[in-house]
Amino acid sequence: MIHQEFEGEIKFMKIAVICAMQLETDRISEALSEVRSHSYYGRTVREGLYAGHEIYLGVCGVGKSNAASFTQLLLDRFGVEMIINVGVAGSLDDRLAISDIVLGNELYYHDFARHLLEETYPYQAFFKADPELLERAAEAVPEGVRVFTGPIATGDQFVDNPEKKEAIRRQIGALACEMEGAAVAQVAAGAGIPFLILRSISDGADEGLEGAFERFKHQAAAVAAESVLALIRTL
Ligand code: ADE
Repeated sequence: MIHQEFEGEIKFMKIAVICAMQLETDRISEALSEVRSHSYYGRTVREGLYAGHEIYLGVCGVGKSNAASFTQLLLDRFGVEMIINVGVAGSLDDRLAISDIVLGNELYYHDFARHLLEETYPYQAFFKADPELLERAAEAVPEGVRVFTGPIATGDQFVDNPEKKEAIRRQIGALACEMEGAAVAQVAAGAGIPFLILRSISDGADEGLEGAFERFKHQAAAVAAESVLALIRTL
C-alpha cells in the first residue's frame, strides 16, 4: 500500500471497524484514504488509511452470526490488532436520550443462558471491553455529545415493546440493547484481541422499526461514526 496523503506519524495499527448496516459505515468510509476493496462470501471489506492507521471497515449484516463470522474473517484474513464495533442501539435506561453515546464496558447476551456460556468456549459469561479504549473513547467523543459507560445487551431481536425492554433491563441491568456487540466481543475475547463496542442511541427500544429508529437512525449513526473517528485519531 502507498501512504501518500497522510502527513502525520505513520502508526499502522490494524484496526477493524465493524458495522451492522451500511448507513453506519458511510461517514467512516468517507474518511478513509487509499481505499482498496476485498470481497468475501458476499461481504466487502474496505481497507484504507485514517490517522496513520490501517482501517478494515465493513458491513457485517444484522445479528450475532453475521457479527461473529465477519469478526473472525477480519482476524484471519487481515490480522487486525484491535476491533471496534460501531453503530446504533436502543435505550434501556431513562437517563439516555437520542444520539447519546454508550460505551459497553461489559457485553452480555440477553438470549443465551449465562451458565451455558460460561461452560463453553471461550469460557466467559460476558465479555469485558479494553479499559484503555473505554477511557480514550469517553474522552474523545465530540464536544456536546453525552457519553455513558455501562453494560450492553445483545440478542437476535429488535427490542420493540416496553415489556421486552423491561425484561432485558431487569435481567442484565444494561444501558442499551443491540444485535451484534456481544458476538463481536466473544470472537475478540477468544482471540485475545482488545475490543470496544461504541453505540449511539437511535430509539427507546419500545416501538417498532418504523418509530424513533426510522427517524433517528441516520443522526445517531453519524454521531457514533464521528465518535469512533475521534477515538482513532487519539490512538
Ligand atoms: N438497534 C437499534 N435499536 C435497537 C433495538 N431497539 N433493538 C435491537 N437493536 C437495536
